[in-house]
Amino acid sequence: MRVLITAGPTYEPLDPVRFLGNRSTGKMGYALAEAFAAEGARVTLVSGPSQLPNPAISLIETVRVETAAEMFAAASMVAAEADVWVFAAAVADYRPAQVAAEKIKKSGETLTLELVKNVDIAATLGQQKRAEQFAVGFALETTNELAHAQDKLRRKNFDLVVLNSLRDAGAGFGHDTNKVTVLDARGQVVNFELQSKADVARGLVSLILARRAVTS
Ligand code: CTP
Repeated sequence: MRVLITAGPTYEPLDPVRFLGNRSTGKMGYALAEAFAAEGARVTLVSGPSQLPNPAISLIETVRVETAAEMFAAASMVAAEADVWVFAAAVADYRPAQVAAEKIKKSGETLTLELVKNVDIAATLGQQKRAEQFAVGFALETTNELAHAQDKLRRKNFDLVVLNSLRDAGAGFGHDTNKVTVLDARGQVVNFELQSKADVARGLVSLILARRAVTS
């Protein structure tokens, strides 16, 4: 089995020294890569800037990227051959319209940045997903969580969507633990306990393998 995983944040440059980014650490995506490798899968881990070291497991190839465009290019290279796609990256939805060649000097009291939309990696690859391929996305919602996650699943052609909880202490960005709810296209819901990201990853991999066995 071949698996493609996107992980971590993206950095969108403003000038040679500044970027727009986010607080994703990559922990969930890296834990998933290790959990898939533990099941014998060959994993391509396309990672945005993360402090985490490349997993030292021969089954995992780590490809380091910075921007959403680079992440899309790297993911596109392996998407067709991968049986499972997991989009765990926190991709910047927008990037600065212009990247200044020189460091931007301060001048007025305010500074307005124009941003343009980035490629939606999951949605774009989702359009070319074959029936035997299996895609998993992540969602972080603050209102109508289940309905929004279900909508995201349809729009991006996911087979499963993993909903990150914002309500629970110790879950999500930067934490070593996570609490997730998994939804499928039929509206079936699986709730995971608050547990380490490594345990969440093992649970998600078992669920994905079980679902693939049923659908393929
Ligand atoms: N994603 C992606 N490329 C993007 C944005 C998101 O691949 N440019 C993936 C993420 O990795 C995640 C899923 O899509 O698996 C959900 O991302 P999110 O940003 O929450 O979805 P949006 O459709 O942008 O919705 P929202 O308006 O809530 O931001």
